[in-house]
Amino acid sequence: MNPFDKYSIQTIPLKGDISILTASHEPDSFPHREEQIEKMVNSMRGIVMGMKTNHLLVYGKTGTGKTSVTKYVTSKLHEKLGERLIISYINCQAYDSPYSIMVNIAKNVPGAENIPVSGWPLDRIYDELVSSMTKAGTSLIVILDEIDKLVEKNGGDSLYVILKLIDENPGVLGIVVGITNDTSFYEKLDSRVKSRLSRDSVIFHPYNADQLKDILLPRVSSILKPEQYEEAAINLCAALGAQEHGDARKAIDLMRISIELAMLDSSDIVIRDYVYRAREKLDSDILRDTVKTLPTHAKIVLYSVILSIQVHPNSATTGEVGLFYNKMCNLLGYTPLTSRRISDYINDLEDYGMIGTMLKSLGRYGRTRIIRTSGREDDIKRFILEDSDLEKLRDVNLSTQLKFEQ
Ligand SMILES: Nc1ncnc2c1ncn2[C@@H]1O[C@H](COP(=O)(O)OP(=O)(O)OP(=O)(O)O)[C@@H](O)[C@H]1O
Ligand SMILES: [Mg+2]
Repeated sequence: MNPFDKYSIQTIPLKGDISILTASHEPDSFPHREEQIEKMVNSMRGIVMGMKTNHLLVYGKTGTGKTSVTKYVTSKLHEKLGERLIISYINCQAYDSPYSIMVNIAKNVPGAENIPVSGWPLDRIYDELVSSMTKAGTSLIVILDEIDKLVEKNGGDSLYVILKLIDENPGVLGIVVGITNDTSFYEKLDSRVKSRLSRDSVIFHPYNADQLKDILLPRVSSILKPEQYEEAAINLCAALGAQEHGDARKAIDLMRISIELAMLDSSDIVIRDYVYRAREKLDSDILRDTVKTLPTHAKIVLYSVILSIQVHPNSATTGEVGLFYNKMCNLLGYTPLTSRRISDYINDLEDYGMIGTMLKSLGRYGRTRIIRTSGREDDIKRFILEDSDLEKLRDVNLSTQLKFEQ
């Protein structure tokens, strides 16, 4: 008998593919985004009519549909214009120089496909692109997703070159659609870039729980029969997504993991309990990723915070964290950083939501910061110890040892 046999029988026979609840699924309807779609269509209508059009900025928190709605609207425009439109989707997290962006645009432009990925000066690529586009007579939409990363890494110049490519060449008809989470993005730009970008913008507001339910229901009902899920389970996914700044991605992920957990459990119905378990799993995956990507010294600082709190649950101070940190660096053979740097790391950890701090007055002795954690100490410790460089910390019961030493 094959030991995997028992897993091939689905306890919940799915009507459709569960990938409808993954990021790769591109829906063709977007409940509660009618207004944004309308606004984007309105902004891009000039392209259909062969007219110069304003560039567009798309704002909104994570998981509010910015990327997927932008791709949907531009794909509809592509449906309308066919080969007369070139769409270049660029994630500026991955491509963050004008050079790499130009090369990416060129890949889709007839006659410019052969521009090499390196070796040409920027102005040669620029000229080649302009002449190929003018010859081809096509329109161009450049979607710069996470556009703030581009400006952060390269300043306004990089964006300026791309805006100029479209604005200053009569043969190039098109727009830049910039997508960002940063509501102050526009204000931070230099005036040259600002004036080109104008103020055309579309805001993606966070979803509330009812709206998230409307987003979840069509997907869930296409794979599950009504008797295979409790409505309360969907409501809970929606409520948790709403709590997390109205995040549809979170609600959808929770629903998918809940179904998977129910199936692994051989249950024939998805109940609320699986959603709670899905939340724990999702949160710990995110927490693990965040801890994993911290620099080594930040991990040691975080470990010190946890130990300080174990010793003094309500009164752990930054000074104490520093003491623990120094001792742990000695133990590991690292040179300790200055208290200033430790303080910077404490601020970073607070930004990540892993710890919280509160200023406490010490009367004439000044003030100190009292530190707390988010209540996931055991998980955090486990994830820190997954770093092989810090394994030594595993066997030492530091909280007792250091308590006696103080
Ligand atoms: N109104 C909606 N209807 C259906 N699905 C939606 C809707 N809004 C968002 N989604 C889905 O939620 C997920 C997240 O959306 P998307 O990736 O577009 O968010 P985003 O705003 O770009 O987030 P980020 O800022 O993190 O990149 C996607 O799977 C998308 O299909
Ligand atoms: Mg996005």
